[in-house]
Amino acid sequence: MVKKGILIVDFGSQYTQLIARKVRELQVFSEIIHPDDVKRLNLESYDGIILSGGPKSVYDKDSLDVDIDLNNPPIPILGICYGMQLIAKKLSGEVQRSRRREFGYAIFNIIKDDILFEGIPEKIKVWMSHSDNVVKIPSGFQKTGYSVNCKNASMKDRREKIFGLQFHPEVYHTDYGKDILKNFIFKVCKAKKNWNTSNIINRIIKNIRNDVKDDIVIGGLSGGVDSTVAALLVKNSIGKNLKCFLIDTGLLRYDEGKDVIKLYNQRLGLDVKYVDRSELFLKELQRVVDPERKRKIIGKLFIDVFESEAKKLKKARFLLQGTIYPDRIESRSVKGPSSVIKSHHNVGGLPEKMNLKLVEPLKDLFKDEVRKIGSKLGIPDEFLKRHPFPGPGLAIRIIGEITPEKIDILREVDRIYVEELKKNRIYDEIWQAFAVFLPIKSVGVMGDERTYENVIALRAVTSTDGMTADFYWFEKETMQKISNRIINEVKGVNRVVYDISSKPPSTIEWE
Ligand code: XMP
Repeated sequence: MVKKGILIVDFGSQYTQLIARKVRELQVFSEIIHPDDVKRLNLESYDGIILSGGPKSVYDKDSLDVDIDLNNPPIPILGICYGMQLIAKKLSGEVQRSRRREFGYAIFNIIKDDILFEGIPEKIKVWMSHSDNVVKIPSGFQKTGYSVNCKNASMKDRREKIFGLQFHPEVYHTDYGKDILKNFIFKVCKAKKNWNTSNIINRIIKNIRNDVKDDIVIGGLSGGVDSTVAALLVKNSIGKNLKCFLIDTGLLRYDEGKDVIKLYNQRLGLDVKYVDRSELFLKELQRVVDPERKRKIIGKLFIDVFESEAKKLKKARFLLQGTIYPDRIESRSVKGPSSVIKSHHNVGGLPEKMNLKLVEPLKDLFKDEVRKIGSKLGIPDEFLKRHPFPGPGLAIRIIGEITPEKIDILREVDRIYVEELKKNRIYDEIWQAFAVFLPIKSVGVMGDERTYENVIALRAVTSTDGMTADFYWFEKETMQKISNRIINEVKGVNRVVYDISSKPPSTIEWE
């Protein structure tokens, strides 16, 4: 049997996605799962399991547990931080709150031969982040390493089937972290490398053909990387049975509809119909202020429009969605809060009753994997590097009520902002940059006249996946130029401010 790769059980660690990405960088498939869902799975169809870290103590009343037979593990298991403590607790070892918490760098000393540490020096710098410690390792286990503040920093069972690490091999700060994971994946689990761009594409195409057969898939393209790559994959699977639309919600950026249609039809050979529904969207959004209501209304209208277009086509039974893996994880996080921070309309905003089934070819992929596939499918580089743009578009960048006048102003500001970033050759250094229309007016002076006009906030962030982000540090001259151009060229704006918050605690978008 060909095994599926590594299963990562998520106990709520901020690093869980990093574990998944590290495994995939080693060309092995990885899948993140909520502990409660483990019992549904046939564990033997995976090569191995990694139990992630987590914010709780294993003795907390509401701490998470997992239903795996640790006395007779079906496949190898590596517990990291909370994962190691859970293994210890479940096998009658002992975990205690330590007198000294350990956050940051520590020196880890290897004291026992361990297949996990093959080829690794005896002393390495590792990243610790814990308050609890395993004070008694379970019987049948051996201690394999320690640090100054953590006497049992690693352990393994004598059969070398279960391993525990108190430090985090998945983070960049741990020396040889990738080698440790590599040893676990290849030496212990004996996983095969099968996760590369060509395999991924073939696998997705096979699945789409299986699911869709000779039905028709309709897809709403937004000009974003995800929906475009998703559409090309479906086109490569079922050819002409893919019917695409670009729905103009009236909330797109400057000339976006026109530019994107040109790229699709002329360069990518996708047949995309332009459907202008801006009046409908803007009418339904009138006087709506709450961001989540905006998202729900837009999500529902998208589906209504798709369904009405679908009715015009015989056998249109599927709807294409560009949902990627982090969208799904953020919507079902063990921590809970991140799932309700914003209902990303790809996932949370779809109506419960829908007549179309979903096709989500990218649902298991991270953004960098999507870009690699896009490049392999011939999407031009300048398009793949476009900053992400949210489904609800400018609606969630106009704080409060949306009006046509505000949209016009914001579109013009955004055009100037992006133009300057490209001119200064910093567009590609920034993960996402955009302008936000604020619901306040401020006093200014232009020539000899007092003005009382709108305020625009600019946001630019660096990030790798949108889950965490930091604000971008501009040169003063660049900021000056951007702000001058906006205030001089866009009527109705007399003040520009810059957002200097990181995510967390803020989010990237303002709504
Ligand atoms: P936040 O604001 O949650 O954004 O830090 C993270 C990334 O997700 C994008 N985003 C959305 N994308 N529908 C989307 O398709 C949405 O409702 C939505 N809200 C945020 C955001 O632009 C950023 O790239």
